[in-house]
Amino acid sequence: MTDTVNEIGLAIIGCGTIGRIRAKYAREYPGIKWLGLCDVNEELGRQLAREVNADFFTADAEKLIKRSEVNATMIITEENKHTEPTLMAVERGHKLFIEKPLATEARESLQILDAITGEGLDACIGYTQRFRRRFLAVKERLQNGQIGDVHTVTTRAFMNRMVPIATIAKTNERHNLTPMVVSGTHSLDMSMWLMEGKTPASVYARSVDKVLSEWGTKDSTLGIFTMDDGTLFSMNICWALPEVWPGTVYGLEIGIVGEKGVIDIEDTHRDLVLATEEKLPGGYISGGYEAPERHVDFLTSYPPGDLWNNQLYGPMREETIGWFSRIMMGTPTPHATAKEGHNNLLHTMAMDLSAKTGKEIALPIDPEEFYK
Ligand SMILES: NC(=O)c1ccc[n+]([C@@H]2O[C@H](COP(=O)([O-])OP(=O)(O)OC[C@H]3O[C@@H](n4cnc5c(N)ncnc54)[C@H](O)[C@@H]3O)[C@@H](O)[C@H]2O)c1
Repeated sequence: MTDTVNEIGLAIIGCGTIGRIRAKYAREYPGIKWLGLCDVNEELGRQLAREVNADFFTADAEKLIKRSEVNATMIITEENKHTEPTLMAVERGHKLFIEKPLATEARESLQILDAITGEGLDACIGYTQRFRRRFLAVKERLQNGQIGDVHTVTTRAFMNRMVPIATIAKTNERHNLTPMVVSGTHSLDMSMWLMEGKTPASVYARSVDKVLSEWGTKDSTLGIFTMDDGTLFSMNICWALPEVWPGTVYGLEIGIVGEKGVIDIEDTHRDLVLATEEKLPGGYISGGYEAPERHVDFLTSYPPGDLWNNQLYGPMREETIGWFSRIMMGTPTPHATAKEGHNNLLHTMAMDLSAKTGKEIALPIDPEEFYK
């Protein structure tokens, strides 16, 4: 851990869905003495700045990042737009929180990692699910050796197709907005974190695109990693479930088998179901996309947390406030590092490359391999 700060002057770059959540937490945190916001969408950004009573707003990230009050920056722009503001904040030596994926280009991801490492900065990546109690409990039991040495891990993720449609509608730069790079990265990060100490040696994957090809992405990617000690890890995601499926669910199942035991995680959220004749809100709404009528929700399935009284409780609160404590008090936290964020991008992209070429990909992989 690098040195701490006595008080935080925080820049938030990106005031969309997630920037809005984190800006509200920031305003409530007593250690944050100055809060500046930035969004290229001025109307949206100014609206949030008014709501959280921000000290400063601009549509130009550089103007905010260069302010003398700022010593910490959160990059919460859309997936393709993390690199430029991140590199500016690195240059200023800020504490950094960067949303996942670290970048959507392998070269940019390496450039960010090298810059952060070169400056010796502390950077955390937004793998919010690490902050859920169930996964922290699993991590602790694995660390205590209760199931012995792990040799098999299976991970399966299911999502409503609203998520890719809404994500992809924002941009024409779609070539890397695949199920693994955008969303599978969460469950891949979780699986790799739970397998900490093992290093992927190769991956073989296949994809299918029967439904979402018209949107410029794929439906599913299924892959098998072989780790350096022979452990097998199967990583599968489908983000093309019908729009009438509960809107915000990231339905996850993870099985971890060790030489002495097993941990079987059912995280599909089918244990708290609401069904109604009323029309339920869309889930993900973006860029004019309107979801069809839905009547069933799995409660507590929205990955950032749950609303009560216009306040969001859950992992994103723990993660955001945990980061403030980390940079002010040096509190150890389970945040993903920049190195892990970079590896997650390369591993998700390696699955896509394997699916494209039909070949097993040796790991670790040089980012330049993705441009051949
Ligand atoms: N940690 C999690 O659980 C989680 C959940 C959802 C999304 N995310 C990630 O958070 C990030 C943001 O997602 P979102 O859903 O809030 O997207 P969003 O589209 O709602 O918001 C992104 C905002 O960034 C702004 N922006 C784009 N380029 C900019 C620039 N150069 N300078 C300033 N502002 C700029 C856009 O105008 C937009 O308002 C993405 O990387 C996404 O993958 C993380």
